Amino acid sequence: MKAIVLENPLIQHKLSIIRNKNTGTKEFRETIGEIATFLCYEAMSDAVLEDIEIETPIEKTKCKKLNENQYAFVPILRAGTGMLDGLIKAIPNAKIGHVGLYRNEETLKPVRYYYKMPKDIQKKEVIVLDPMLATGGSAVDTITMLKEDGVNKIKFLCVIAAPEGIKKLQQIHPDVQIYTASIDEKLNEIGYIVPGLGDAGDRIFGTKGE
Ligand code: PRP
Ligand code: URA
Repeated sequence: MKAIVLENPLIQHKLSIIRNKNTGTKEFRETIGEIATFLCYEAMSDAVLEDIEIETPIEKTKCKKLNENQYAFVPILRAGTGMLDGLIKAIPNAKIGHVGLYRNEETLKPVRYYYKMPKDIQKKEVIVLDPMLATGGSAVDTITMLKEDGVNKIKFLCVIAAPEGIKKLQQIHPDVQIYTASIDEKLNEIGYIVPGLGDAGDRIFGTKGE
C-alpha cells in the first residue's frame, strides 16, 4: 500500500507555516490541528455510511450518516495529542485512547510508559496520530500493541514522514494505510527529519521556549 500524500495547495501553504522556525507556539499548534482535520477527511474517503431519511425544510429526503462510534483516535503522547483537536472537529463522537512513548535520544528506540484504550477497542477502526514519522519506531510499536490487543483495522496519520519511517512501517505493518501531508528528504544523524520542522512535541507545548 502506497502512502497517501495530501497534495492540496492549502496544505503546502500550512506546511510552510509549521516548518518556519519563527512560527510561535500558538500558530504552530493551531496549524497542526488544521492539517490534522484535512488528514482526517482524506482518511475517511473509504468510510461506509448508513442510509437515513431526514426532513429538510422543503421535503423528506434520503441522506447518509457516519456511525462515529465505530472510530477511535489514538494519539501517541506527547506530540500526537496536538493533532487530536483537529480530528475531533471532524468526528466529535469518536472514542479516544492514548499511548505513551518517547524516543530514547541515544538509541532512538521508543520507550513505553502508558497504554489506555476505550472499551471494545477491538470492534473499532483505530486511527493512530503522530505528527512525525521519523525512524518509524514509535508508530510500529504503537500499532504492534494495538494488534496484540485485537485491533485489526488501523490507519496512521502524520504531518511529516521520512522515507525511512514509511519503509519500516510498511515492512512491519503492510496492512496499515499511511496518510501524510509531506514525505521529506531523509533523517539526519540524530534521527530528526530533514528539512522537517524540528521537535514537534517541544513546538506544540512550548517546552523549549520561544
Ligand atoms: C517524537 C514524535 C514521534 C517520534 C517519532 O516524539 O512525536 O512520537 O518522535 O520518531 P520515530 O519515528 O523515530 O519513533 P518524542 O520521542 O520526541 O516524544 P514527545 O512527543 O514526548 O516529545
Ligand atoms: N520527532 C520529532 O519531533 N521531530 C523529528 O524530526 C523526528 C522525531
